[in-house]
Amino acid sequence: MPLTDDELAAAVAVLAAGGLVAFPTETVYGLGADATNTAAVREVFAAKGRPLDHPLIVHLGDASGLDAIVREPSAAARTLAARHWPGPLTLILERRPDAVVDAVTGGRSTVGVRVPAHPVATGLLSAFGRPVAAPSANPFGRVSPTSAAEVREELGGACDLVLDGGPSAVGIESTIVDCTGPEPEILRVGGVTEAELATSLGTTVARRERPTGAPGTLDAHYAPRVPLQVCDAADLPAVMAAAGSDVGLIGPAELVDGRDGVLGAAESDEHYARELYRWLRAGEARGVDRIVAILPDDAGLGAAVRDRLVRASRGAAEADG
Ligand code: TXA
Ligand code: MG
Repeated sequence: MPLTDDELAAAVAVLAAGGLVAFPTETVYGLGADATNTAAVREVFAAKGRPLDHPLIVHLGDASGLDAIVREPSAAARTLAARHWPGPLTLILERRPDAVVDAVTGGRSTVGVRVPAHPVATGLLSAFGRPVAAPSANPFGRVSPTSAAEVREELGGACDLVLDGGPSAVGIESTIVDCTGPEPEILRVGGVTEAELATSLGTTVARRERPTGAPGTLDAHYAPRVPLQVCDAADLPAVMAAAGSDVGLIGPAELVDGRDGVLGAAESDEHYARELYRWLRAGEARGVDRIVAILPDDAGLGAAVRDRLVRASRGAAEADG
C-alpha cells in the first residue's frame, strides 16, 4: 500500500519542520527524524526515553547517498551494500563529521547506515532527500513494533505522524555488521542471515561477543511485562511440568500444536521471526503468568529469533536499550 501524494507531502513536511514520523520498514517500524537536525534527533531520544549514548541508525532511500555520510567504506562494506540493500542490513562505518548531527551517533566517530526495503520507507526517504535517523519505534525497553497500531498504542502521542505500511515482513531488526575494523564483524544478528553474509563475502563473518552492561554498545533490550522462560526443545516437558497452569507457549508448530495456551506456532524460522514480537505482546495482553518460548536452532533467521528471546528472558536486570 504505497502512500498517496498528499500523505507523502505531509510526512516530508513534518520531517522538514523537525517533527517525528513513524514509518514502516521490512524489519520493524522506525521512529524517524531529520538526521541533520539536532533538536529533532533529541526529540527521538526523549520520545523513547532512550539514553543519549545509544546511537541511532541512519536510513537512506538508496545506496547512492552512502558516500555523503561515511568515509572510505571498505571493499567488504561496498559488497555487502551492493548485495543486501535495500534490505535488513545495517553497516557501521566511519562517519563524515558533518553529514549527520553528533546527537545521532552519541558523539561516536562511526555511524550505522541502512537502506530499508519497504515501498513506504523508500518513498518517504527519497522524497525527503536527507538522511533520517530512526530507532525502532518503541519506548525504551519495550518490544519493537511490527504494525502501525502498535506504534500508535505505545508511542502515538510522541509522533507527529504514523505511516501505516501494513505488518512488517521480516518482523525482527536488521543485522548489524561493523565494517570499521580489518574484518567485518556481526554486532547484532537479524534479518540478513550469517549464511547470506558469508555467500556475499566469500568468507564467514564472526559475531562479536558483546559485553553485558556496557552502555551504548548493545541493542535495545526488551524486558517483557510477564516472565519469559526460554528452553530448547528437549527440555520442554520438564519446563512445562514445572511452569504452572497459566502458561503462554511459543515455539515451532510441530512442538506446540495440540498443547494448551499456545500463543504462537511457527511453521518456519521466517514465520517465527515475522510473528515473534506479536506473539510476545499477545502473551502480555492475555496476562498469562509466564510465557515459555522454545528456542529455534542458532542458524538462519532462527539465530536472530533465538538472540532476541534469550536477551528478553534475561529480563530487566540486563536491560540496556
Ligand atoms: O531494523 C532495524 O535496524 C530497525 C529499523 C527501524 O531500521 N532499527 C533499529 O534501531 O533496530 P534501534 O535503534 O532499535 O537499534 C539500533 C542498534 C543499537 O543497538 C545501536 O547501539 C546500534 O544499532 N548502533 C547504531 N549506531 C551504531 C554505531 N555507530 N556503532 C555501534 N552500534 C551502533
Ligand atoms: Mg530498538
